[in-house]
Amino acid sequence: MFKSYRKLVALATVLSVSALTTACANETAKDTKKAASQQSEETATSGASRTYENGKKVIDGGMTYPVKNGKTSSYHVNTQKAYQDVKFGRTATPDEIKAWDMDIMPDGTGLPEGKGSVEEGDEIYEAKCASCHFDFGTGGAGYPALQQGNAYEIKETLKLQRLNPDDDGPKRNFGSYWPYASTLWWYIKTGMPHPAPMSLTDDEVYALVAYTLSINEIKIDGEEIDDEFVLSKENFSKIVMPNKDGFVPNIDGENGLENVRKFYDDPKNFGGNKKRCMKDCFEGEPKVARIVGAGISDYNPPLSSKKEKPAKKESSSPGNEAKEAYEASCAVCHATDAMGAPAVGDKKTWEATLKKGIDKVYHNSIHGINGMPPKGGTTFDDKKMKTIVDYMINQSK
Ligand code: HEC
Ligand code: HEC
Repeated sequence: MFKSYRKLVALATVLSVSALTTACANETAKDTKKAASQQSEETATSGASRTYENGKKVIDGGMTYPVKNGKTSSYHVNTQKAYQDVKFGRTATPDEIKAWDMDIMPDGTGLPEGKGSVEEGDEIYEAKCASCHFDFGTGGAGYPALQQGNAYEIKETLKLQRLNPDDDGPKRNFGSYWPYASTLWWYIKTGMPHPAPMSLTDDEVYALVAYTLSINEIKIDGEEIDDEFVLSKENFSKIVMPNKDGFVPNIDGENGLENVRKFYDDPKNFGGNKKRCMKDCFEGEPKVARIVGAGISDYNPPLSSKKEKPAKKESSSPGNEAKEAYEASCAVCHATDAMGAPAVGDKKTWEATLKKGIDKVYHNSIHGINGMPPKGGTTFDDKKMKTIVDYMINQSK
């Protein structure tokens, strides 16, 4: 299946590239040339290359770039014309593309020379993988497990998962789910360890694949592999994964398309019981559950079927306005003396307050005094504040 998928991807790439070239052939050519010359300049002036713990170069361009004021970074602020608006990233160098451009196919095409044993893999695993994938690949907090025990005993396949999308579905681990071990080689090489992809040598990757096969109890030529087993380019194609034929429909090969059609012609394969339908699918009215028709009628407030503007409140008299404003904005502190505010209704306190003169009291209510925030924390204008203060005083006579 990966093969045909790749063909599609390759085709899509060709199509988009040709579209690009026709659309702006000159621009692209110019930019590419400029990029190339810029790149060689940078290579010449690049700073110290970065290394990984065992002295091997990491593929991140292995260089640093000037940023500003003598500072450098391993990321490059792109000044090329085509990227000026985004100022992000840079064109990969030809060597970088070559290093990452890797396809390891199910038939072994693309595998490099090299070899590694289960035992060696075990050691590398403990040093570089176990911190996330846990001992023996059993999976840690949030990190995927690389095995679920004997992969042959986990018989569920992708087909069964589609029909029973519940706990009985296949365990999505390398041994019990992945159809080809070649994908594992490629995945570990280009993706792991997560913080330092492309840092493993080819031999280390062979060893890690061998180790992953062993923890999944995978057999080669009918025999379970042991610690001494050495995996290499030569014997790689002997690995047959338990779930190799579990992916249905089988889209590989000449009959791929026919398999897909047949699969989808059987409604049971996608959980339905009627023929597939793209047009005029319903006979009569489709049965759609509607809330109103579902017997629920005791909404409170009742569901409205009309769009109405909210009813306008009766215009309040000036006296009412002050009362409402007091209740909304002042009563929280002035209803009692708990906050240290003169309580509305407390005749004695208000008499004492008013001894300083009404203008001073207005002034204090507007500009604040001690625990009394300016305007009681509101944005009322001075006139409104005065009407509220009058109201409070009247309630306290
Ligand atoms: C810092 C944590 C970390 C380390 C160290 C690490 N990995 Fe991973 N690994 C992950 C994460 C996260 C994923 C899932 C990535 C995703 O799904 O995008 C993953 C996924 C995988 C998968 C695919 C699992 C699946 O079935 O989808 C394999 C295989 C794998 N890692 C192997 C390794 C190996 C071998 C090493 C050691 C060389 C390693 N990892 C080191 C975090 C880590
Ligand atoms: C956060 C509480 C709080 C709120 C809200 C509040 N007040 Fe006060 N108010 C006080 C306190 C405390 C005092 C007493 C201040 C002092 O004299 O130490 C006070 C004092 C006053 C006084 C007397 C001022 C003086 O000269 O002694 C008036 C008048 C007054 N508030 C009006 C209002 C009005 C009108 C509102 C609403 C718009 C309001 N307050 C909202 C806490 C509040």
